[in-house]
Amino acid sequence: MELDLSHPSITDLRKTARKRIPKFAFEYLDSATGRELGLKINRDALDKIGFMPSVLCGRTTANLQTTIMGQKFDLPFGVAPVGMSGLLWAGAERLLAKAAVAHNIPFSLSSVAVASPEDVAPYIGNNGWFQHYPVNSSELRRAMLPRIKDAGFHTLIITVDVPEESRRERQRRANLTVPPKTDLRTILEMIRCPSWCFAHLREGIVPRMRFFDDYVPVRGRQSFTHAGALIRGIPDWEYLDELRQEWDGKLIVKGVLRPEDAKRMVALGVDCIWVSNHSGRQFEAGPAVIDQLPKIREAVGGHVPLIYDSGVSWGLDIMRALAYGADFVMLGRAFQFAVAAFGAKGIDHLVHVLKADIQANMSQLGAESTDQLSNYLLGENSRPPKEWYGFGG
Ligand SMILES: Cc1cc2nc3c(=O)[nH]c(=O)nc-3n(C[C@H](O)[C@H](O)[C@H](O)COP(=O)(O)O)c2cc1C
Repeated sequence: MELDLSHPSITDLRKTARKRIPKFAFEYLDSATGRELGLKINRDALDKIGFMPSVLCGRTTANLQTTIMGQKFDLPFGVAPVGMSGLLWAGAERLLAKAAVAHNIPFSLSSVAVASPEDVAPYIGNNGWFQHYPVNSSELRRAMLPRIKDAGFHTLIITVDVPEESRRERQRRANLTVPPKTDLRTILEMIRCPSWCFAHLREGIVPRMRFFDDYVPVRGRQSFTHAGALIRGIPDWEYLDELRQEWDGKLIVKGVLRPEDAKRMVALGVDCIWVSNHSGRQFEAGPAVIDQLPKIREAVGGHVPLIYDSGVSWGLDIMRALAYGADFVMLGRAFQFAVAAFGAKGIDHLVHVLKADIQANMSQLGAESTDQLSNYLLGENSRPPKEWYGFGG
C-alpha cells in the first residue's frame, strides 16, 4: 500500500531506479538510438488511441486471463528479454523468473543476459521463453538449441531487428563500452550506488554474458568483445527456415513491422509474430509500432498470435495494444526499473500497478474481457475484433 502511494506508476519506479544504479547502467537501460525519436513516435501514437466509456454497466471485474500459443496466463502481459539484466541489478533474471511464475506470466531470458539458461532453470516453471540472437554458424546453433530445451525452455524467440549494433548516443556519452571499462569515472559512479554494489557482492558473480561466453574461446573481460564479434550472425530468411526445422517447440519472431514479412514468416511455420521496434533502440525513423499492429493483423488473419511491445508505460497502453489486434503485450524497461528500484518487491508492485490500471480503466468502459476492447475504440480508431478478420488473408 505504501508503494502504491509513493510509486503509483512506472515513471516513479524509473525515478527510484535512476538513483540506485550507476549512470552508465541506467543510460544503457533507458536510452534509444540517435536522437531517440523512436520513443516519441511510439508514445505519441499510443496516446492518440482513445476509448468510449459506457455507464450504468453495474460492477465489472474484467477477466484478464489470456491464452497464447495454447498456454493460459493470468494476465495479458509479461517480461520481455533484456540483455545484461543482471548487470542492471544483481540476480535480476532470477528474481524476474520467480515473480513471473508466481504471477503466472511469461518470462523471457535474453541470450545475452548475465544468467545462463541453467542459472534460471530452477525458477522458470513452464513460463520460460528463451530469446535467441542469430549466431554465425549452424553448428553453433545446433549446439545451443538442445541446451536451451534441456534447461526447460519450450518457447524460442528469434530477434530479427538487430542486424548491427545501433548508435545510442546517450549510452555512448555515459561512457558505456563493450566490454564495460572500469575507469575512475565508472568506479565513482558505482561507489555512489552502495546498494547496487552490495547486491553485486552478495550475488558474487562478475556480470558477463554467461551463455554466449561458453561458446567463445577467450575468457574474462575479452569475452564481451568476442561474444559480439565472433558469435553474432546476421538474420536472414534462410536462417529462419533452418531454425524452424531444428526447433520443435513454439517459435516466435520478434522485431517485425512489415505485414508482408509477417505473412512470409507464418508461411514458414512460425507460431507467433512479435510486433516491435526494440522500443526505438535500433532505428528511430520508422513507423510507430502500434500503427503497424492492425496492418499485420489484417495480413496474417485472426488465427496467428501477435505480441506487441515498445513504449508500454501504463496499463492503458496494454489495453490499447490489445484493442489494436495484439493477443499479448510485453514490457522491457519497466520490469528492469522495478527490480532496480525495489528488488522482488518492486516486480510484484509493477504487476499490481499494471493490473490495477487495466481493471480500473476497463470498468470505466464497462468491458468484461480484453477480447471486447476493440468494440470500445473511439470512432476514427475503431477496429473490428480479431475474429472478424479473414483467416490467413
Ligand atoms: C536494456 C535493454 C536491453 C535489451 N536487450 C534485448 C535482448 O537482449 N534481446 C531482445 O530481443 N530484445 C532486447 N531488448 C528489447 C526488449 O526485449 C523490448 O523489445 C523493448 O524493451 C520493449 O520496449 P519497452 O522497453 O519500451 O517496454 C532490450 C531492451 C532494453 C531496454
